[in-house]
Order: sequence, then structure tokens, then C-alpha cells
Amino acid sequence: MTDRIQILKPNDFHMHLRQEEVLIHTAPWAAHWFHYVLAMPNLIPPIRDAHDASDYAFHIFEVVHDHMKASRVEPRIDRTRFETLTSVMLTPETTAKMLSSTNHRVTAVKLYPRGATTNSDHGISISEIARKHELFDFMQEHGFVLCIHAEDPDAPVLQREQRFLPIVYELVRAFPRLKIVIEHVSTAEGVAFVLDMPVTVGATITAHHLLLTLDDLLGSTLDPHSFCKPVVKTEADRQKLLEAAFAGHPKFFFGSDSAPHRTEQKQQKGSAGIFSAPTAVPLMLDLFHRSGVLEMFDRFMSTNGADFYDLPHNEEYLTFERKELPPGTYRVPGYEVLQADLPLPWSLLTT
Ligand code: NCD
Ligand code: ZN
Repeated sequence: MTDRIQILKPNDFHMHLRQEEVLIHTAPWAAHWFHYVLAMPNLIPPIRDAHDASDYAFHIFEVVHDHMKASRVEPRIDRTRFETLTSVMLTPETTAKMLSSTNHRVTAVKLYPRGATTNSDHGISISEIARKHELFDFMQEHGFVLCIHAEDPDAPVLQREQRFLPIVYELVRAFPRLKIVIEHVSTAEGVAFVLDMPVTVGATITAHHLLLTLDDLLGSTLDPHSFCKPVVKTEADRQKLLEAAFAGHPKFFFGSDSAPHRTEQKQQKGSAGIFSAPTAVPLMLDLFHRSGVLEMFDRFMSTNGADFYDLPHNEEYLTFERKELPPGTYRVPGYEVLQADLPLPWSLLTT
């Protein structure tokens, strides 16, 4: 029986690191588990241009560095181990010039349909998408990726993803060289759509959409900690997501959509977002191991996304041993972390 597993350091192509004191909780986990982390721009105010993005990436780096120093870990952090990739929010005002500055180039532009999710008020309405064609043309010529929160906020909640797919299809037709990522794909229809599209279209899949269904959210008492946008779906949808992740198909790669909200905010306001950065990697390792598809783990968690984003493969490895971690090892005070209270069968060997 395997008692050690070595994996390539994973990448996370969709993480909400947030700002101010929340960043203290997220950035160290980002660097602990991941090499490349694509940081989402829905801050208050949002990341709008390459200047904001550069400051943000630098700040994340500082927080990680300070955390390592404070934990008396020799701050071994540089671009060979951890790198923040940045994105800007697509607003009605976004122009091509805003995507690069003298010292920084953003990786992606994030399209949030206005009102679709947390802090998306500065996003664009579906009818405004057509006005951004000049920008999309520039992006396809210069290799910027368009990441899409593919939900129509005016559709019924369980149909929001399906209803957005025709809009993505129009973009694929109009911009055949533009790389597009359907973020946190959550439905069987979404998976089938991505498979049907040309190689320019990929999708991130989260840990929570691979692990949870509507029954976890609503099946017994309402669980606000299983609530996110897009909402977790049916078992049939989850099976299609698992198939896509387990097949090692190059179009599908990991993006945690880890999105912390304080526990009382989740309980009282029902804010959408699941905080998974501390547990996502051990949870995914357990899932792939239990499902007998460990040989696909590195593709889904590390190399497929790197290939899609034209990044070199990570060279660092993480080694796990079969040793049950006590529940709560990854607890974060003030926040509920995805499945942090379940025992995790694999623990990271620190070198
Ligand atoms: C995210 C957040 O809280 O920023 N929430 C979520 O439910 N996933 C935003 C998003 O990605 O939709
Ligand atoms: Zn997100």
C-alpha cells in the first residue's frame, strides 16, 4: 500500500486573496500549497489596471515574506517557488493600455457580469460586453487571457451557467485566438460546452464543486459555509466535473475559487464564497487517491493550467505521507475552512 505520495507543487488559477487583515490569512496558505496563484481582482476598490495589479502582487509577496519571518521559517520565497499572477476587473472603462505598465503585465482580465457575485458592482452588464470588442481584439493579439464568471445573474439560479454559454460561444466565434477560461465550471452542460469548443477555451474546477452538491447546502439544515457562486449543483453535475478532472483533459485545471468571508458574515448575511485555500490540496489528493486516479493529479492540479497559461511546469515537489491529520489542523480563527473538521489522511512532509 502506498504510504508516500510525491506531487508537483500545484497551481491555483483562481483565488480570492482579498486585502488588509484577510490577506494575512490567505497569502501564507497560497504560498504554502501553490506555485502560481492567479489573484482575483474583486477587491474594494477593484484592481483596475497594471499599476494596481503590480502593487497588489508586491503586497502579497510582502505578507508571505513577513509571515515566514514571524514563523521563524527562513524566508525561502522567490519566483522559483511562488508567484502571484494578476488579473484586472473588466469594467466599462477598461482599455488595452491598462493591461500593462512599465514594470508589470497582467495575466488575465476577469469578466464579472455586474451583480453576479461578491464585489462585482464594477463589472459589466451583459449588454455592455459587445462594447469591449476592441479590447478583446487587443487581448487575443497580445496573449491576455479572458477569465469569465459565466453566469447570467438574471436567469433562475440553477440555470445561470447554461444561460451564459451562448454569450461565450459568440466571443469564441468573434475572437478565435482569444484564450477564454470558464471559471468554476459547475454543470454537466458547462463541461460539455468546454469540450465542444476549440483549444482556446478551458475551464477551472474548484475543490468544492468536486466534493459538494445541493444536498450539502440544503439537504438538512441550511449550511451557509457550503454556499458559493455558482452554487454547487446536483450529483449528476458533480459526476461530470469529476470525469473532466480525472480524465486529465488539458482543458480542465484547478482553480480553487477560495473566497473567505468571516464566519458571522456567512451566518448572518449569507455571503457567497467558500474558503478552501488551507485544505484544498490535501482534499484533492485524498479525492484522487480514493478514486484510483492519482496518476492524473499533477495534470489537473499543476501542468494543464500551466500549459494553458503558457507557463513553465513547476519544478518543486511536495511529499505526503499517510498519516491522519487531526481534525482542525487547518482551522483558521474567525473563518470556516472547507472540510477542516474532517480527518485528512495525508500529511505534508516538510523538508
Ligand atoms: C467570490 C467572492 O466571495 O469573492 N464568491 C464566490 O461565491 N465564489 C466571488 C466569485 O468568484 O464569484
Ligand atoms: Zn471567484
